[in-house]
Amino acid sequence: MRKICVAGNWKMNKDLNEAVSLISELKKTLENQTINADVIICPPAIALETSKTLIEGTAIQLGAQNMHFADSGAYTGELSASMLKSVGCKYVILGHSERRTIFGESNEVINKKVKKALADGVDPIFCIGETLEERESGVMQKVIEEQVRKGLAEVTVEELGKVIVAYEPVWAIGTGKTASPEQAQEVHAFIRGLLKEMYSEEAAEKVIIQYGGSVKPGNADKLLSQKDIDGALVGGACLDAESFFGIIKAAK
Ligand code: 13P
Repeated sequence: MRKICVAGNWKMNKDLNEAVSLISELKKTLENQTINADVIICPPAIALETSKTLIEGTAIQLGAQNMHFADSGAYTGELSASMLKSVGCKYVILGHSERRTIFGESNEVINKKVKKALADGVDPIFCIGETLEERESGVMQKVIEEQVRKGLAEVTVEELGKVIVAYEPVWAIGTGKTASPEQAQEVHAFIRGLLKEMYSEEAAEKVIIQYGGSVKPGNADKLLSQKDIDGALVGGACLDAESFFGIIKAAK
C-alpha cells in the first residue's frame, strides 16, 4: 500500500515573516489531528532554514522548489543539492512546468538535476505534464512518455524508490480547471505502466504519483481516492493553512 503524500509548492509567495506565520498556523491546524498522509512544504529558498527550525518535532517535512545540477561554482543565483540538504531539505521539486516553460529547462537539464539530487541525498519530486494543445492534438501520451524516459534516464531501480512523480497537466495549473478524477487516473495509470516497462512491476507499484493542478479541499477527496493517485502537489491552496489541511485530511 502506498501512503498518500501531499506537498505544498508555495512558488514565489510569502516573505520570511509571512512564511513564519503560515507555518505557525499550519502547525496549530495539524495539532492533535489524525493525519494519514506524508506532508511536505516547499517554501521559497529564503525561508528554508527558518522553516526547518519551525517544523522540527512535527510530521511536516521540507522541500525546495529548484536546484542546479552542479556541485558548486560560478552559477550566480543558483543553489546546489548539498546546499539544500545543509538547510534540512529532504525533497526538491524538479521539472515543474513553470521551470520548463518560463526558464526553458529541457528534459536533459531536468535529468541532470534529478540524478544530482539523488546522488546527493535529496529526493526529487519530478514533475511532468502536457499542455492543452498537446492533449487536444492527441500527443499527450507521447509527450509524457518522453518526459518520463528522458527525465529518469540512467536513474537506477534503487534510486527510483526515492523519486516522487508529480503529474501536473499544464492546463490545470492555477486555472481553476482540474482534470477530472477519471482523466487524472487514466494518465497516472499510463505513467505507472511506463515505469513498469522501464523498471519492474514491483518497483513501479511502489512509486508515489501525485496529481497537481487546482487541487482544492473540495476536489481532493475524489482525486485521492483514485487507484493510482497517491497524493497531491498543491499550489494556490497550500498558501492558506485551513485549505491545505482540507486537502491533507482527504487522505484516508
Ligand atoms: P495550483 O494548485 O495553484 O493549480 O498549482 C499547482 C502546481 O503547479 C503545484 O506545483
